[in-house]
Amino acid sequence: MAERPPVTDWATDFDHLSDEWAKHSPEILADLRDQCPVAHTERFFGAYLVTRHTDIDAAARDTETFSNRITIINDNHPDNVGLELPPITLDPPQHGPVRRALLPSFSPKATEALAPTVAAIAERLLDEVAGQETVDGALDYAQMLPVEVMGHLFGVPPEIGPSFRRWTDGILKDGLSDLDIARTAARETQEFFASQLRARRDAGDAAPDDLITTVLNAEAEEPDGTTRPFSERERIGALFTLMLGGIDTTWSSLGVILLHLGTHPDDLERLVDEPALIPSAVEEFLRFYSPVTIARYINTDAEIGGCPVSGGHRMLLAYPSANRDPDYFERPDELILDREDNRHMAFGVGVHRCMGSNLARMELHVGLSTWLKRYPRFELDVDLEDITWSVGPVRGPRSVPLRIPAPRHMTAA
Ligand code: HEM
Repeated sequence: MAERPPVTDWATDFDHLSDEWAKHSPEILADLRDQCPVAHTERFFGAYLVTRHTDIDAAARDTETFSNRITIINDNHPDNVGLELPPITLDPPQHGPVRRALLPSFSPKATEALAPTVAAIAERLLDEVAGQETVDGALDYAQMLPVEVMGHLFGVPPEIGPSFRRWTDGILKDGLSDLDIARTAARETQEFFASQLRARRDAGDAAPDDLITTVLNAEAEEPDGTTRPFSERERIGALFTLMLGGIDTTWSSLGVILLHLGTHPDDLERLVDEPALIPSAVEEFLRFYSPVTIARYINTDAEIGGCPVSGGHRMLLAYPSANRDPDYFERPDELILDREDNRHMAFGVGVHRCMGSNLARMELHVGLSTWLKRYPRFELDVDLEDITWSVGPVRGPRSVPLRIPAPRHMTAA
């Protein structure tokens, strides 16, 4: 893996794959938003970083100038188009038909029906660590829950969980600065979904009613009203996108929620006493600790917030920074569990707004309330400084060791 030269100046030499970014990106973004809202770097063949709410909002909606055909910035040349991940790597007009075909699987109704299953998975995960004095909120719980939920939706055996984790990490984290890791993860994921599709095709009418079968039979409705089946590349790409989109994002959010509560006893006590606050608290956690920063390919020379940006390069839309912009949010640097009017951008904006937001919210509500019922008291078992954060498009704590005090009735004597 290539050595990364240290950053000399975040405004002119940023490196979103550096360890410093992973650890301190909220502070770095706050400085840039204030002093250089569109930062630049010569790294990555020249790239930009957009940090203000108004600029991110405008750029995310301008799909003609800013293309989704590349959504991560790694050491690949920008013209070397990476993975095909429909619908996220499609621009209009190709994007809409594919997205609309997938949306029903993530409707509020479909998601609500899944809630008891998610609760059962959460209970089982907590049963597996019951009685331990220390539980890792990230490794034992937050990272397991969405992997199992996606496995359930896909209709694949739970034993595939570790592979989902390895492939997701390989594409979204370790593979960003080591392209061989990314290539291997991509090949294995594609082969896996291709074989699953084959099995369902072979099963014919006996194929299980799951997300892989839904994608196998998906049809895109074109603007002229005609429909066509997905191509095999679209099917594999869509399943790949759902795996990537559904796992790391949600586990990063649930992990950081437990990290926050393990270091803010007042917030923990309030949520335990007032569980009705969980929905608004989840929105505030999503705003305050937004995990996703996504890239765009710049089609033609353009301007963002008065700064020129060059066609043929890439730029990052820092949704986490938009969500702390004082021009848009009051008291942006305070986490307020019952914040009202919280129109955050954690799920993005415009045509690519997260397709899985209903599912993500439900998993976070169920995951958090199940944890709090089991563990109303806990605290971080290491120094906050020692927490390591993942680099890449999805930011979250890698490990969150939490000390669980013995129940009060056991210590009272
Ligand atoms: C806390 C959890 C999640 C967060 C913070 C999140 C965030 C995002 C963001 C910011 C985007 C927009 C990307 C862009 O601007 O190009 C996005 C798109 C997407 N997300 Fe999520 N996501 C989460 C969970 C999920 C889940 C559970 C799924 C489904 C299983 C999912 C599937 C997708 C898909 C398919 C897209 C692409 C939509 C399109 O291009 O039309 N996400 N997500």
